[in-house]
Parts: sequence; C-alpha cells; structure tokens
Amino acid sequence: MPKNKKLADLFVRKEVNTDMFKKTGLEKSLTAFSLTTMGVGAIVGAGIFITPGIIAAMYSGPGVWLSYLLAAVVCSLAALCYSEFSSTIPLAGSAYTYIYTVFGELLAWILGWSLISEYLFAVSSVAVSWSAYFQNILAGFHLHLPEIFRAAYGTSGSPHAIFDLPAFAITMIIAYLLVQGVRESAKVNAVMVILKISVILLFILVAAFYVRPTNYNPILPFGFKGVIRGAAVAFYAYIGFDAVSTASEEVKNPKRDMPIGIVSSLIVASVLYISLSVVLVGVVHYTKLNVADPVALALHLIKQNWVAGIVSLGAVVGMTTVLIVMSYGGTRLIFAISRDGLLPKVLHKLNPKTHVPVINTWVFGLIASIFAGIIPLSKIAELVNIGTLFAFAMVSLGVVFLRKDRKFRNLPKSFEVPLYPVIPILSFLACGYLMLQLAAFTWEMFGIWLVIGLILYFSYGFSHSVARREEKL
Ligand code: ALA
Repeated sequence: MPKNKKLADLFVRKEVNTDMFKKTGLEKSLTAFSLTTMGVGAIVGAGIFITPGIIAAMYSGPGVWLSYLLAAVVCSLAALCYSEFSSTIPLAGSAYTYIYTVFGELLAWILGWSLISEYLFAVSSVAVSWSAYFQNILAGFHLHLPEIFRAAYGTSGSPHAIFDLPAFAITMIIAYLLVQGVRESAKVNAVMVILKISVILLFILVAAFYVRPTNYNPILPFGFKGVIRGAAVAFYAYIGFDAVSTASEEVKNPKRDMPIGIVSSLIVASVLYISLSVVLVGVVHYTKLNVADPVALALHLIKQNWVAGIVSLGAVVGMTTVLIVMSYGGTRLIFAISRDGLLPKVLHKLNPKTHVPVINTWVFGLIASIFAGIIPLSKIAELVNIGTLFAFAMVSLGVVFLRKDRKFRNLPKSFEVPLYPVIPILSFLACGYLMLQLAAFTWEMFGIWLVIGLILYFSYGFSHSVARREEKL
C-alpha cells in the first residue's frame, strides 16, 4: 500500500447525511426543559458538595467563587461549540462522533479515549465523594467503618486508610442496576434535581446567617494565580453538560432545544456553585476546608446538626444520580466506539431481553470501582478535568473546520456559535490554558493513558474499523 494511502487511512471519516438523523429508531420526546433538568442532574454533584472546600483551602482562598466563575465562562464557550455540533450532527456518541465526521478516525479515537477517561474518573471521583457523605450519615448514628476501609491510601486526614470500601461498593451497585436495565427516567431525574437544588438552597439560607465577614479577608491569599489554578480544578463541577448532547437523537427539536438545554443547565449550576461557595468560605475559614465533606463541616460548626443530616442525605441522593448518568454515558460511549469497530465487539453485545450492553457495563463498573477504591479524590478529580478539557479543546477547534467543510455547509442547522471564529478559537485557547494549570502528576497519568490508547488503536482498532471497511467496499 502506498505510504500516503496508509496515512489517509488513519483519517477516514464517518459519513453523515440528514436521513441518518431521522432513522435512528429512538423515540423523540425530550424538550429544552427536560434537557435542562437532565443537565442539572448530570452536572451538580461532588463539584458542589466537596470541591469548593478543597479549592478554597489549596488554591483560591475566600475568592473561590472567582474560580467557579472563571470555570463557568470557559465551560460556556465550550458549550456553545458543543451546541453547534449537536445541532448540526444530532447523532449519539457526542464529541466522539463529531470529531469522527470532521477530523477522521485517529483523532476521534484519541478523543473518544480521553472521554472514556472523563467518564471513568468522573464516576470514581463522585463515588469517593458519595462515600464521604455516606460515612457522615453513618457517623450520625454512631456507626463507623474500620479505619482502613474509610478512604484510599494517601488521602489527606486519613493516615490509616487503605481502601475506600463504600466508594467501591456504590460503583459496583450502580453497575448492577444498569445491567438490570435500570435507567433513570425523566420523572425520577426531575425529582432528584428538585431535591438536590432544595438541599443546596437550604444550606445557603441557613448558613448565610452565620457568615463572618472577617473570613473573607484576605480575599485572594494565593493571588490571581491561585484563582486560575482553582478554576482548572473547579472545571470539574461543570462536567456533565456534555452528557446532554449524547441524547440528541431523542430530542424533539434538537436544533433549538439542544443549545437551550446545554446553556441553561450551565447557568443554573453556576448560580448554585457561586452562591454556595461565597457562603461556605464566609462560615468556615478557608484554611480549615480541605476535607471530604465541607458543607456538612460548616453546618456542624454552626451547630446545625439536623440540617447537616438533611444536606448529607440530599448530597448522597444527588451524587447517586450523577453516578447513574455518568456510568450510563460512559458505557454508551464505549458502545458507540465498539460499534464502529475500534473496540472489541463484545462491548456492544446486547442482552436480547434487556437490551443492555452487559459485558461493557461490568467492565466499566469494575474498572471505575477499583479506581474509586484506591485513588485519593484530589488526584482523580484532576484526571477527569484533563481528559475533558482536551475533548472540549478539540470540539472547539472542530467547529472552525465544521464551518469550512463543504460537506457540512449544506446541512441544516439552527444554532451557530456567535462571533465565529473568535469564540471557538478563544474556547480552544482557554481550555488549553486551563490544562496547563493542572498538576504534573495529572499530565503524567494522562500521557500514560494516551499511550495505552494508541497501542490499543494500532493493535486493534485500525484493523477492525467499520468506516475503513465501508470505504474499501
Ligand atoms: N460535575 C460532576 C460533579 O460535580 C462531575 O459531580
């Protein structure tokens, strides 16, 4: 085979035409409102119940809300780019599919592989946070696990910990539920979202009376650099809106509803995050917030133990929905990649009765639960961010090419990123800049992850790709 043919093979593209959007077989029932609740359900979790404390203590101090604001701005830029893609190519598989159609297979694989890391580590990290709040509730009943099973080895403040047993267990339970065909229905999701928002508002309303203005001084003890470093971590809290775009095939009017759904769920999340973090650092001095359950800590400190119990319960329920949505999203992403031939066929094998990809779900659940058991939260949270920021950067750049490409120019679309090409380019640069703020450990792990991905691609995906086979026919 000539050399340039081989090279072109690496960039074979997925075909799209408008007929594909009609014939997906899935029911089109979602609206902008249901997408917004779905988004809030997927977004709001550990990022509000845990990370504001870590970010305030380690990076931004009482100005933690600035980090959340900055992360929200970067996220909104990426969200606009996502929206243009999802309104132009409303097919399942989200960013992975978008990049497959625009940049071709190799980059799609790299992006898909990064997204797998996003979903895997998001599930593991939310499970760790779930475990902290769950143990908080148990402690309310004077029940305690043996110290070695309370957290992962190396977790700050838990010198005897070895393995986070509750985090491991909840991830396996979620995998079990998904295997049974449990899917969060829109109704259950709406109830959970209302519960989540209510406990957050409850915290804000109760704790606001105990704010001590002296706690806001100095507002930025680590300078603006700390705010930016904090924003790279706070980005974590907004992850999940991309899960909304995976539902494009089930939306009534994706071209209008998808951008509205994505952007409004981000706005709701930002308002909640910023308000909660302002109150949190006003109640507890930022130096004391590097704990796994800062919101409960604040409430205990002001002697609102009952409220702490309610909020912890709400947090546990709220984080369970994030776990379900992210586990579901992860397994469906792997399903889409396997259907394209880039991962082994067993991963898209469905159980004939339940229509669930059983092996895929168990493999995903097992890996996520092991990570949840052995990696401390502060390290996993950054791993989620690097994979996601990378994916967002590629999607942003993808929009520039999407518009230039004749193949896509004629596809009807109702949403276009404003101020093109400034916003996509700005979004690309901002995501890249935040990636640079992440720790060296995170980069090393991400590098190892990508190398494993490339080995997998060249030893398996390249020779099994469906798109390449179709092109040869
Ligand atoms: N955004 C998700 C959360 O905060 C990962 O739990």
